[in-house]
Amino acid sequence: MTILPYAERRARLLAAIGDGIAVVPTAPERARNRDSHYPYRHDSYFYYLTGFTEPEAALVLVGGAQPQSLLFCRTKDPDKEIWDGYRYGPEAAREAFAMDAAFPIAVVDDKLAELLANRPALYYSFGHDAAWDERIIDALNRVRADARAGAHAPAEIRDVRALVDEMRLIKDAHEQDIMRRAAAIAAAAHRRAMGAAAPGRHEYEIEAELLHEFRRHGAQAPAYAPIVAGGANACILHYIDNNRALRDGDLLLIDAGCELDGYASDITRTFPVNGRFTPAQRDVYQIVLAAQAAAIAKVAPGNRWDEPHEAALRVLVQGMLDLKLLAGDVDGIIESGAYKRFYMHRTGHWLGMDVHDAGEYKLGDRWRPLQPGMTLTVEPGFYIRAADDLPRELWDIGIRIEDDALVTATGCEILTAAAPKEVAEIEAVMAERAVAR
Ligand code: GLY
Ligand code: MN
Ligand code: MN
Repeated sequence: MTILPYAERRARLLAAIGDGIAVVPTAPERARNRDSHYPYRHDSYFYYLTGFTEPEAALVLVGGAQPQSLLFCRTKDPDKEIWDGYRYGPEAAREAFAMDAAFPIAVVDDKLAELLANRPALYYSFGHDAAWDERIIDALNRVRADARAGAHAPAEIRDVRALVDEMRLIKDAHEQDIMRRAAAIAAAAHRRAMGAAAPGRHEYEIEAELLHEFRRHGAQAPAYAPIVAGGANACILHYIDNNRALRDGDLLLIDAGCELDGYASDITRTFPVNGRFTPAQRDVYQIVLAAQAAAIAKVAPGNRWDEPHEAALRVLVQGMLDLKLLAGDVDGIIESGAYKRFYMHRTGHWLGMDVHDAGEYKLGDRWRPLQPGMTLTVEPGFYIRAADDLPRELWDIGIRIEDDALVTATGCEILTAAAPKEVAEIEAVMAERAVAR
C-alpha cells in the first residue's frame, strides 16, 4: 500500500490549521435489519487523509510547532477477528499508516478532552454525524468545566470540510491513476451491456452484466445505484427499479459506474435495444452527442465551471428548434427556461471519491475557473415524454451521454473514452452480439 499521499495530505492540512486541532471521524456502520449490516463504506474525508478503511476510527491532527497525526481505531481482538476478519489494532496501524501515535478508539473521549484544551481553533464538520457531534460537544464541555484550572476550550470552531474540499478538488497523481482505472472498468462494463442487450431481456439482466464486469476487475461496488432504463423509463431521471423487459424499437439508457479503491466512475450510454437506431432516435442522439462535444471542448484550464454547460445547452436548444419541439430563438428559449421540459438537469458535477464530489462550484458569486487535476462529468441529455402536442416518433426517447473528464494543462483527458458512443461504433459493437439467447 502506498502511504505517501495520505501523509502528505495530512501535512498540508496541518499546515493550514496553524495551532488548531482537527477531528475527522470515519463513517458509522449501518444496520440493514437485525444484525445484518449494509456493506461498510468508510467516510471519504477520513479515507482521503488516512487510507484506513476500518470502521470505528477517527483521525486527530494536532497543529503547531510539532504537528501530530493521531489515529484512534479498534484494538486487536482474536475472537472478533475469527468472525469478522483482520483488524490492524493501534500498534500495527500506526506503523502501516505512518501516524505519530495510535490509540484504542475506546479512549477517544478522554483523549479529546485533553487535546482540545488550550487550542485556539477546532476544525470539525458539525452536522455530519450526530453521534460524533455529541462526543465533540461533550469533550468541549469537559474542557470548559476545567476553566478554573486554567484550561480554555477552542474559541473558534471551523468546518474542516472547507479546507479538505479544496484539496480534494485537485486530484493528485495517485488519485488520477485510480480514477483512470475505475473509468476503464466502467467503460468495459458499458461495452459488455451493449453486447448483452436484446429485445425480451430484462433491465436487471443487463444490470447483472454491469455488476459482473465491475467485480471481475476488482471494483468493490457500484459507485451509485445503476440506472438501466428501457424506453419511457429513460425519461425518469433516477429510475433504479430496473425490472422491465426490453422492447424491440426502444432505446436503453444505462447510467452506471463503479467504485474502485474509494474512487467513482460515472458513465451514461444510450443505445437501441435491437442494435439499430431509428431515424428519429438517431436525430436526437446526434444532437446530444454534438452537445457533449461542444461541452467537452470547453473543459480546459481557465474556462469557468458553467462554460461546458452553456455550450451544451445552446446545441440542445438549437436541436429542440430543429425538431420543432419548441418555437422561437435560442437566446429567448434559454432566457425563458422553456427548454427545461426536455433538459432539466445541468451538464455535470465534480467527480472523485464521491460520485457528486466535494468542492465549491463558485468562488464568491462567480463560477470558478477550471484547473488541471480537477475531474468532472460531462453529461448532457434530452428527454421527450409522450405528449399529444409532440410528434409520435419522438415519444419516450430519453438520451444522456456521460463521460468523465480530467482537466489537463491544455484541455482535458476523457477517462471514459473506451465506452462506445458514436452511432456507427455502437451499431458495430451490437452487430457482433451473439443473438441467440
Ligand atoms: N449517476 C449520477 C449522475 O450522473 O450524476
Ligand atoms: Mn453524473
Ligand atoms: Mn451518471
